[in-house]
Amino acid sequence: MAEEFKVTPWEVTGDIDYNVLMKKFGTTPIDDALIDRISKYGTPHPMLRRGIFYTHRDLGALLDDYDKGNQFYIYTGRGPSGNTHLGHIMPWIFNKWMQDTFKCKMLFQMTDDEKFLFKDLTLHDTRNMAYENALDFVALGFDPDNTKIIVDTENIKTLYPLALRVAKKVTFSTAKAVFGFDGESNIGRIFFTTLESAPAFLPSEIEGKPTRVIVPCGIDQDPHFRVTRDVAPGMGYPKPTMLYCKMCPGLNGGDKMSSSEENATIYTTDTPKQVKKKVGRAFTGGCVSIEEQREKGGNPEICAVFKYNYYLFEHDDAKLNEMADKCRRGEILCGECKVALTQKINVFLEAHQAKREEAKEIVKQMTFEGFKW
Ligand code: TRP
Repeated sequence: MAEEFKVTPWEVTGDIDYNVLMKKFGTTPIDDALIDRISKYGTPHPMLRRGIFYTHRDLGALLDDYDKGNQFYIYTGRGPSGNTHLGHIMPWIFNKWMQDTFKCKMLFQMTDDEKFLFKDLTLHDTRNMAYENALDFVALGFDPDNTKIIVDTENIKTLYPLALRVAKKVTFSTAKAVFGFDGESNIGRIFFTTLESAPAFLPSEIEGKPTRVIVPCGIDQDPHFRVTRDVAPGMGYPKPTMLYCKMCPGLNGGDKMSSSEENATIYTTDTPKQVKKKVGRAFTGGCVSIEEQREKGGNPEICAVFKYNYYLFEHDDAKLNEMADKCRRGEILCGECKVALTQKINVFLEAHQAKREEAKEIVKQMTFEGFKW
């Protein structure tokens, strides 16, 4: 198959073939047997059952250790470059399920340094965004006693020794091969991956013994973690376990919700009116006329409105299937689905925005201050 798509930590374009990507990166599919195993610990999250979190590295080994009584940590993060949208919080919702299910301590990294180096933003901008984005993370209800938010430029003192030890093991050739850097790349970019590695090793330092970490995140982050996993044994740490999800689609039918497509992107701070307008313009799998759709039916497979139900807003499989069947039979029209989705999103956002206000206090408790818990 022609590889017209591109997935890197900094750029996601084209129609992503997630199976091809999995093969290219060399990750393992999450199959039914693994989902069965996970159901021993709690009801598997719909994102697992529906193949949204679909591939991993070393999940079996982490669970084996857990079964022996070895608690692991969760680590994920965000590059604070703009306002939080639904695409960002999708994997965080899954992370919250992980924390609830496995009762883990959690590290959340805000890479304000990364976004300064890779975008046309000042450090002031990215630092402010880190705070704004943290509110969305906290609003999802992570356990305040067991969750710490690392802001790179604030917490560099803790991260730097780990980053240096990583840096000493990664050559420029490797960085070029993995990330495609060249002579024009600023040198901060070349060093940056070490900062994303560091929190994967922090739990071992905090606990004073080798401690496993699971990193549930978008598959676009895999290049950083290939490097991280390669250097881990030589540094005396377990390789982080990875759990990867597909990108959250855009409302325009694109494969990734992105701030470069304002109208196809729902921000956590959007008003009900904005949501209505954006969902109203969403790409669907409907026909050009009502008559034609009644006769031929629509195509939920390609429909952004359906995808939003599938990815985030309809947890009930029976209801989801009914929605798809009715669409295919021409029994519901795009307008009705849009109204229903708008309502679901607005109900979610109303609650989220209230919790986002409360987060302004709670976030203070989650400030990372070195190794103390
Ligand atoms: N690089 C990520 C981004 O741009 C942010 C990040 C830092 C991250 N550490 C992480 C994401 C760990 C996933 C897991 O969004």
